[in-house]
Amino acid sequence: MSQETLLSLKQAATELNVSEATIRNWIKLELIMPFDKRKSIITRNEVIRIKNQIFSGEISKLRTRANKLNCSSSFLPNEYIPEQLSDIVLGINNICRKAELSVSDSMFYSTLLILLQKKEVTISTESYSKLTILNFKRKNVEHIMLEWKKELATGYNDSIIKQLIDSVNINEDYFAYDILGALYQVIMSEGNKSLKGSYFTPSSIIDDIISQYYKENDKILDPCCGSGQFLLRFAKHNKCSYNQLFGIDADKICVRLTSINLLLCYDTADFTPHIYHLNTLQDIDPNSIFDEYSFLYDTFDIVATNPPWGSVIDRYKYMAKFPQISSGESFSYFLVMSHLFAKDGGIVSFILPESILNIHIHKDIRKYILEHFNIIQITDLGKVFTGVFTKVYRLDLKKETPCPEHLIQIQRDNNIFRQNQSVYVSDSDYIFNLHYQEDFSDIINKVYAKKHITLKNNADWALGIVTGNNDKYISQECKTGYEEIYRGKDVFPLFLGKAKEYILFQPEAFQQVAPERKYRAKEKLVYRFISKKLIFAYDNRQVLTLNSANICIPRFSGILMQTIAVLFNTQIYNFLFSFLCNTHKVLRSDLEKLPIPLDFLETNNEIHNLTRAIFTRNSSLESMDNYLFRYFEITEEQQQRIHNYRRK
Ligand SMILES: C[S@@+](CC[C@H](N)C(=O)[O-])C[C@H]1O[C@@H](n2cnc3c(N)ncnc32)[C@H](O)[C@@H]1O
Repeated sequence: MSQETLLSLKQAATELNVSEATIRNWIKLELIMPFDKRKSIITRNEVIRIKNQIFSGEISKLRTRANKLNCSSSFLPNEYIPEQLSDIVLGINNICRKAELSVSDSMFYSTLLILLQKKEVTISTESYSKLTILNFKRKNVEHIMLEWKKELATGYNDSIIKQLIDSVNINEDYFAYDILGALYQVIMSEGNKSLKGSYFTPSSIIDDIISQYYKENDKILDPCCGSGQFLLRFAKHNKCSYNQLFGIDADKICVRLTSINLLLCYDTADFTPHIYHLNTLQDIDPNSIFDEYSFLYDTFDIVATNPPWGSVIDRYKYMAKFPQISSGESFSYFLVMSHLFAKDGGIVSFILPESILNIHIHKDIRKYILEHFNIIQITDLGKVFTGVFTKVYRLDLKKETPCPEHLIQIQRDNNIFRQNQSVYVSDSDYIFNLHYQEDFSDIINKVYAKKHITLKNNADWALGIVTGNNDKYISQECKTGYEEIYRGKDVFPLFLGKAKEYILFQPEAFQQVAPERKYRAKEKLVYRFISKKLIFAYDNRQVLTLNSANICIPRFSGILMQTIAVLFNTQIYNFLFSFLCNTHKVLRSDLEKLPIPLDFLETNNEIHNLTRAIFTRNSSLESMDNYLFRYFEITEEQQQRIHNYRRK
């Protein structure tokens, strides 16, 4: 391998635009494979591989993951426990850390501490140092704790519980909170937690679900219950009996925590909580002849949870069981299972990341939802979990034959409005587009009522160039043999800005390049690719573009190409684009939806004079806005609504 292909840590960090410390972390976490680990030398190919991940968006996941895995300080879920309880939780965590206990052992001693304070267990000697004999008040608590005690990695250790008792005193009021759940989240390393997806849900979110849907005697299931927060809130709010509450979790510690939590909640009864240690996606299978869990099917009035988010590692395992779900996404599998658990007319209420609403890969679960449920409500909860940056939504579904005319309640930005489920069904990606809050059909209908054609089959398209090595081919100076090249940020309404970069055009060497004739077309439109708005410039100088600026060459006769550039920068077309497409990328398929009235193809149409006036700067884009409002008969009130919509 030649010397040029190797980069120092500093060079790699500069290329990737991250700090040297970040690169060191990535090496430690084996996200980057260095050429020589000791000296932190990295091959250029490895840097290119990581760069590609940056482009594909994968790196942001790596970054967040790397940061979390590396986070040495304890993670405190602020949303989960009140501030006053934090010190206590951190204190317990410190003692467990110092004693170098495993997660399971730490949770054993923490649980025992809580049970001692709640007088569920007493000690048979005054001397803590001889705390070997534990007297449990209830058989079911005893059973869980003694089973757990048997699994302690280094045997039962009196001194740890003594230390905990001596240093921690939990005020009775704090037992209203899920202290065990909070502790578990702190004690599990943040890295471990993020891999397991174990963010437990703040109580206020669950209380809203309860107040909206719970009816007396309802049976409730959380199919991935964590420490049991959902079930506990039901128990506390409505005094429903423990017999109505069911939970499943694949993590044995979680099963124990939920069981103890429920036993603590119903402190006058001795009972075996209906909490199962199972992999919900694997162990419960109605198609298996060994299926022991049919008593869970079509049973529950409410299935409510915050499921794990993210793809399962071995998705192929689930392909046969969940043929409807190709994404490999955990929450999608849990939704399908919840349909099985809910009874007819039952509610399925899930806490989910924003991506379920509109990301292409989740088209599968949106389709499944629309075919198996009526959506009762979608609630925007904002950013809920410490360290999780995505917005969170609550989806409430009713298991019943879906009705296209069904009205969905949307709660968003302090607004409540209704949408017709058919709007989602008719979208080719089944996007749950919450922007449909206002009924704009009057405006849309007026525009589409004009006889029109679209760019579909009526234009040539080209993507901008990806050189594969900008350092080599792109320069800030116009050297010999170089020519101007434009990026998305150089594209402005109607005109290209001043070129700031130059390229040595060697199409055969580039990673992605369209046929040259498309860049060299006599006339063409250049548009910004990453943009929430349509920004179209007209070009007749045959310039080249990079892939943030794409190209459209309409083939209509009778209409000036400049007219299309003007149209696609106007208010009404921008409104159509953001309303119908709701994306921050300007995609060809979306542009092909926009109508071009046949009237505009007539050479004597007034629109062409207006276009010429705009291009010679004798008139403004606003004059075209006004012309189009008149042409489409958009009233002043409708113009105001368009204006307000675009400002959101
Ligand atoms: C995000 S936590 C939520 C816990 C609880 N529902 C809450 O909202 O507080 C997800 C839980 O799912 C559990 N889990 C992950 N995969 C599972 C599976 N295949 N079967 C059952 N439980 C699973 C994890 O152990 C974790 O406790």
